[in-house]
Amino acid sequence: MTTQQLRELFLDYFADRGHLVQPSAPLVLHDDPTSLFTSAGMQPYMAAFRGEEAPPAPRAVSIQKCLRTNDIEGVGFHNRYATFFEMMGNFSFGDYFKEGGIELAWDFVINVLGLPKDDLYITVHTDDDEAEEIWHKNIGVPMERISRLGREDNWWPKDRWEGPCGPCSEIHLDLGPEFGCDKPDCTVGCDCDRYLELWNLVFQMYTEAEDGALTPLPAPGIDTGFGLERLALVMQDVRHLAETDEMAHIMDRIVAVINEQTGSNYAYGDDAHHDLALRIITDHLRATTFILADGTTGGPSNEGAGYVLRRFIRRAFRYGRQLGATEPFLHKAIPAVTEAMGQHYTELGEKEEFSAQLVRREEERFASTLRQGMNMFEEIALELQQARQDTIPGEKAFTLYDTYGFPVELTVEMAAERGLKVDMEGFEQAMAAQRARSGRGAGLATAEETISLAHLPATEFVGHETQSSTGKIVAIVVDGEETQRAKAEAEAEATVILDATPFYAEQGGQTGDEGIIHSSEFEFAVRNTVSHGDKVLHIGTLKRGTMQVGDEVTAAVDTARRHAIMRNHTGTHLLHAALRKVVGEHVSQSGSLVAPDRLRFDFTHHEAVTPEQLAEVERICNEWILDNRSVSVAEMDYDEARDQGAIAIFTEKYDQQVRTVTTEGISMELCGGTHVSSTGEIGSLHVISESSIAAGIRRIEAITGTGAVQHHRQLTDQAHELAAELNCPPDDIRAHSSA
Ligand code: GLY
Repeated sequence: MTTQQLRELFLDYFADRGHLVQPSAPLVLHDDPTSLFTSAGMQPYMAAFRGEEAPPAPRAVSIQKCLRTNDIEGVGFHNRYATFFEMMGNFSFGDYFKEGGIELAWDFVINVLGLPKDDLYITVHTDDDEAEEIWHKNIGVPMERISRLGREDNWWPKDRWEGPCGPCSEIHLDLGPEFGCDKPDCTVGCDCDRYLELWNLVFQMYTEAEDGALTPLPAPGIDTGFGLERLALVMQDVRHLAETDEMAHIMDRIVAVINEQTGSNYAYGDDAHHDLALRIITDHLRATTFILADGTTGGPSNEGAGYVLRRFIRRAFRYGRQLGATEPFLHKAIPAVTEAMGQHYTELGEKEEFSAQLVRREEERFASTLRQGMNMFEEIALELQQARQDTIPGEKAFTLYDTYGFPVELTVEMAAERGLKVDMEGFEQAMAAQRARSGRGAGLATAEETISLAHLPATEFVGHETQSSTGKIVAIVVDGEETQRAKAEAEAEATVILDATPFYAEQGGQTGDEGIIHSSEFEFAVRNTVSHGDKVLHIGTLKRGTMQVGDEVTAAVDTARRHAIMRNHTGTHLLHAALRKVVGEHVSQSGSLVAPDRLRFDFTHHEAVTPEQLAEVERICNEWILDNRSVSVAEMDYDEARDQGAIAIFTEKYDQQVRTVTTEGISMELCGGTHVSSTGEIGSLHVISESSIAAGIRRIEAITGTGAVQHHRQLTDQAHELAAELNCPPDDIRAHSSA
């Protein structure tokens, strides 16, 4: 059975049993600083399980694009790991529970897939008598094939989080002793490849507090996770995920591309070492292509999802060198991902050209620095060996990262291949020092590290109504640790969380606010504001005094800066509307930046916007500004907003209740940002550049308000200087300069 047939089989089975088929949510998450990617099929339904949002239906089924990097080391080596994978899942929101969930899963596994009963093993949570009884009495699984395991294996998720959770029960398949490790105690749960976890049935019942206290969900439900690739491995009787039909197609292309480049005639299966590299490259190329096909990641970078992308591409490229590929090759195999999976995931075809370009560029960048970096790495390794040491200093790992673009994980892996370690603490320190120097992100949880703030109340945002308000400090974080107080002398850099704040946290393209948090005891200068789940983090420097948790404070946003941001944000909406008018309705936003000094708007369009079109766009925007149209905000149901013609960003996930920003007679957009109350406040809008940032994506930069006035002043001054040099009136420069 092909992977595509398995997809259809799963969806059809549950659809026939009253489940509403749901599309996959986006892979790349934007508004959740605790995770970069969707990593489970239930993630889009968190609020539904919590009872905060209506579920799509009492029963639903989906195949969700997921990505996890925690098992990356095992990819290619073991048969169960993939970074990108598809999670099939059926969901019950207060409908059937343990009994129904178990019966459906068993029926599918035995009667539809035809898996051999006697090779299936069941695990249940240590305390779950009920599930054990259902498996044994209702289904007839013998007790010797049911085991009880603890939190690590049979509670989902195993790490505490604020989301829905509960005991779970798993179906494992014994693939046979030839997959095993031959240890006498090898059984379900062993690290080897023999017992493959196929399907996880989660009995969603609670949310869990930091101290472990469980609060029941309004209604218990079912959430299941069944890895499609693992099922394909079983049904197609292969040893590795990369050997299943769709992945094998991608791997074949990678082999062909490398063979063409190196002039060799390699075939998968010829050499174990090379095969391993190929499985890793296949996995990483698939993950890369899916991240890019989501269309919301700007490309490889040193932050967030862009960093993961960079790591995949660079790691795959390095494995390519083991097969002799020294020139970019990955991008050439991207069409094979579309061929293999584009029927189900149409975004792959749509974004193919764009993805290939970004991957090629990243490969080129890495290829040219890799050689120098490798030389430096070899020198470091040699020095260590001569000095009989085994740890690469953090500073050196940082130089490899900063100068040669080696993701630190790559340095760690290369070091391990030579029996060396990396001083990660030293690396983190060097990284933090650089962040502090560049004023970026100091004191803030980066994408890969998370401060657990789950126990704190959600921050109330009052910044739409006011820019200065009083509140109470509920937490102070210094160096990634919560603390009760901070003093100006010793711990200048800190992150402060209040119960309520007027500070807008960076999101939806709008830059975070700056300003001051103070009391009679202290003054804290806020350099940036970011969100962390439902908390708002004020990042900055304690300038004076001592601040303590519990202090009553005044939080005051830098209003001049915020007004500039508001002008640019409303300006962005005008620009969007004008572009749709002049260039076409197909223009859709693919990114934006709203800063105090400028605005940037990225959109889909296949050719350059002509100077005439740009002039027209600018003229229309200024006409609307002079018209002084009102800007109003409303909260409404998502469907109602769409019915009224609100523009949503296709790849973004919205809550059921949305905020709309309407510019009278011009546009209605779903937007959480801060805006002026009428367009006249913008003053004027001036387009300063138009360029291409990727195939099919254009970028316009513009300025408004005081920025536009200053720009005009500069141009006028220059005109006067030139006029003086040419000895003519400023209006006449053109005639005089061409003379
Ligand atoms: N939520 C089920 C799973 O991730 O396995």
